[in-house]
Amino acid sequence: MLACTSGGPDGAETDAAETADTSSGDGDGDGDNPGDGDGDGDGDALRPNWHQDVAPLVTEACQGCHTDGGIAPFAMQDYAQTAPWSAIMADQAEQGLMPPWHALETAQCQPPMPYKHDARLTDAQIQLLRDWADVGSPEGDPADAAPLPSPPNLDLANPTTTVTMGSPVSIDAQGNTLDFFHCLSLDPGNPEDVYLDGIQLIPGNREIVHHVLIYVDEAAASASWPGGVLQNCGGGSGVSGQLISAWVPGGLPMEPPAGVGISLPAGSRLVLNVHYHATGGGPTPDDGTGLALRWSTDKPEYGSIFTLLGAPGAGTSLTGPFSIPAGASDHVEEYEWVVSSNGNAFPDSVEARIWAVANHMHLVGVDMRAWIEDRDTGEQTCLVHTPNWDFNWQRIYEYDAPANQGVRVKAGDIVRVRCAYDNSMNNPALVNALAEVGLDTPIEVNLGEGTLDEMCLTAVGVGIKGL
Ligand code: HEC
Repeated sequence: MLACTSGGPDGAETDAAETADTSSGDGDGDGDNPGDGDGDGDGDALRPNWHQDVAPLVTEACQGCHTDGGIAPFAMQDYAQTAPWSAIMADQAEQGLMPPWHALETAQCQPPMPYKHDARLTDAQIQLLRDWADVGSPEGDPADAAPLPSPPNLDLANPTTTVTMGSPVSIDAQGNTLDFFHCLSLDPGNPEDVYLDGIQLIPGNREIVHHVLIYVDEAAASASWPGGVLQNCGGGSGVSGQLISAWVPGGLPMEPPAGVGISLPAGSRLVLNVHYHATGGGPTPDDGTGLALRWSTDKPEYGSIFTLLGAPGAGTSLTGPFSIPAGASDHVEEYEWVVSSNGNAFPDSVEARIWAVANHMHLVGVDMRAWIEDRDTGEQTCLVHTPNWDFNWQRIYEYDAPANQGVRVKAGDIVRVRCAYDNSMNNPALVNALAEVGLDTPIEVNLGEGTLDEMCLTAVGVGIKGL
């Protein structure tokens, strides 16, 4: 699933439409109920059908992205838009590809608690999509329509302020290159030290804003960027920024658990690393990307920091110097990090709890897992496993638990991250990335911020009592 590099439904749309023509219509094209058979419109409609069964599910689970002008390649706002896709919808749901969600329970990883905003469908919902496709995706009778839930509300409640990028950028394909990483510096304008408890990324132009990493630039070094933009800034913040959040299409605002706040000192800047994906249809502007922020001047019970574990810098490599040979299809890099009490972060005297976790690799990565080992008992707690890594859907996974029930972390505990890479032509994400720079064979991949470099790091959001 490569949201970045797909130009749209391609052949799929035609195929789907053809399938629907032969299987879901009743042949007379008058739009009456194909399954009823008796033609008397008495409502004994074939089930499941759109109005009675499928529309509520699609509204809730798909319309965060599949709307007119949304990030997904087709809209599912009514029967006519949705029915041609029914068979592919069922396939995608069965394969766990839609809705996109990558933090899974696996044989190697049973996370200690559920994640917030878990997008996965239940088995019954997947079966519903399959059954609907199998009976020919009937419409049913609008008179019998089930009540519709409201589509997902992606807006942060009661923002304190909203800030927007300083000057527009224009995105246009350059040869084969469709992907661009530009950094935007925003001035949140807080006159005193504040604590963020809500962060919402607002994509200015959803056609091209693909995904975004959000950093605090405490030194305000990014204030010197002309127009507030640093073009082609790679995978990081372009300054020494602290990652605090990430956004993917359809993502809900980040809201730490009650009592946890992210420090935003007066005078700081916020930096957005925006992955733009050109439409291929000529220069496309973005002048509206920004943030809605909610903050409080009251010091929260838990101050939150995001810490980067693993490479580069912090961890010890268990697998030797980072290097992925050209063509290696099952290459593993593993890092270990002993939690220290330095910087007064994790001494025994304070309670530190992990409330969010995010894996990060680039395009060669295929599987990543992070876990923590208790220094006293040796007990291992898996933090997150993203076994079908997709660079385009990296997000911060938040635990669905009160702050004081997050994963406890103490000096002396050991954190490990394991990253698996496929640097062969069997990895479609790599094939695309190579093609964009005119290559058709793999190259050795090393640590770095560029698209054809790799990383292996896990950021955790830790609430520290009294910080
Ligand atoms: C978070 C955003 C998001 C949500 C939620 C979402 N989709 Fe998608 N969907 C996408 C994007 C983006 C693509 C394009 C993927 C690509 O480029 O290959 C897509 C593509 C698809 C496709 C086409 C795949 C293909 O091979 O062409 C189907 C079918 C689909 N989605 C079904 C669903 C269904 C069914 C739901 C709800 C149960 C859903 N999606 C929810 C973002 C989303």
